[in-house]
Amino acid sequence: MKVLVTGGAGYIGTHTLVELIAAGHEVVVYDNFCNSSPKAIGRVEELVGQEVPVVRGDIRDRACLDRAFAEHSAEAVIHFAGLKAVGESYRQPLSYYDNNVTGTQRLLEAMEDAGVRTIVFSSSATVYGEDAPVPYVESMGRGRPSNPYGGTKAVVEQMIEDLVRADDRWSASLLRYFNPIGAHPSGRIGEDPQGVPNNLMPFLTQVAVGRLPELSIFGDDYLTRDGTCERDYLHVVDLALGHLKALEAKSAPGVAAFNLGTGKGTSVLEMVATFESVTGQQIPYCIAPRRAGDLPASWADASKARLELGWSAEKTLEDMMRDSWRWQSANPEGYGG
Ligand code: NAD
Ligand code: WQD
Repeated sequence: MKVLVTGGAGYIGTHTLVELIAAGHEVVVYDNFCNSSPKAIGRVEELVGQEVPVVRGDIRDRACLDRAFAEHSAEAVIHFAGLKAVGESYRQPLSYYDNNVTGTQRLLEAMEDAGVRTIVFSSSATVYGEDAPVPYVESMGRGRPSNPYGGTKAVVEQMIEDLVRADDRWSASLLRYFNPIGAHPSGRIGEDPQGVPNNLMPFLTQVAVGRLPELSIFGDDYLTRDGTCERDYLHVVDLALGHLKALEAKSAPGVAAFNLGTGKGTSVLEMVATFESVTGQQIPYCIAPRRAGDLPASWADASKARLELGWSAEKTLEDMMRDSWRWQSANPEGYGG
């Protein structure tokens, strides 16, 4: 199948390109590089041994989207493009709604006009909202968004559901990711956040590589096993493979949401201990106040994806730590190094 991959130069997009090409699919990347580097595409080309076509464009730019569909005759879209920093979304909500919601609307309009009606959308566990009990199950429905970023994901899910209900030629998968970490086992592609990382794993590896002095653990007084927050971390390569399963399952029209997680929670202190034991690197850390908006625990009920897509996360936490560290230690400055 020929797949247009919006946001294909980003963290999850690059890993998905590698798996798509390995499975025999054709790809074209559509990215404005606002949070990624063209070097990442070069690394993907090196891994897959072929050229990866790229359209440099914004998903809000309808004319550019139309040209991409006309020139590349894609049959499906995997839609990663969007802004994802929770803290920034509080400060710039309109920019988040513009990129994530208006951008997706423009993309769906262009797809409609091009007759491309299969989409796999990057949603997030955040759509379950702040009051949902763990584990999160798809049948729960969406909750009250805990931040503007989560609000954009909920609105886009709703928009896609409404579209599919109005026209049964559409087929859509809403993939609700939990906490993707890790990197390609080659160490050639990985997560390369701009500035000081917001997320735990890149922060931890940047401490280990000496770019940051110590990790602040945000709160140790939650009602969890050891007082620190628990999350469902999954390997980015497993996540990439989930997109293939969703794409290949999408011969039937309709819309369906799937949790992509391992079904297991790990605390921040357990993350630090596992990283240290796998890599032999010591992580200096301190206990800091809670971070606003953090939930004590979040993990998936991953059974729907297993039963309906035949997908489950295979890689261990140790694999995630080893691969994150291989990427960070070989590329201390990310793609900028
Ligand atoms: P990323 O920032 O590494 O990749 C996103 C890519 O989209 C980047 O290459 C960026 O340049 C591009 N982009 C952004 N806005 C664009 C626009 N208007 N037009 C064209 N390109 C644009 O992020 P990621 O971690 O790979 O996440 C991919 C998707 O998955 C995002 O939609 C994100 O919200 C979602 N998601 C990520 C996580 C996570 O923890 N990484 C968890 C749940 C959901
Ligand atoms: C994990 C745990 C922190 C950094 C976010 C988004 C979510 C999704 C994934 C896109 C938490 C703790 C972190 C640090 C710490 N993204 N932590 N010190 O918050 O679960 O999810 O990314 O959809 O929407 O909210 O991930 O990696 O930021 O935090 O103690 O320096 O690590 O408190 O318990 P989170 P995270």
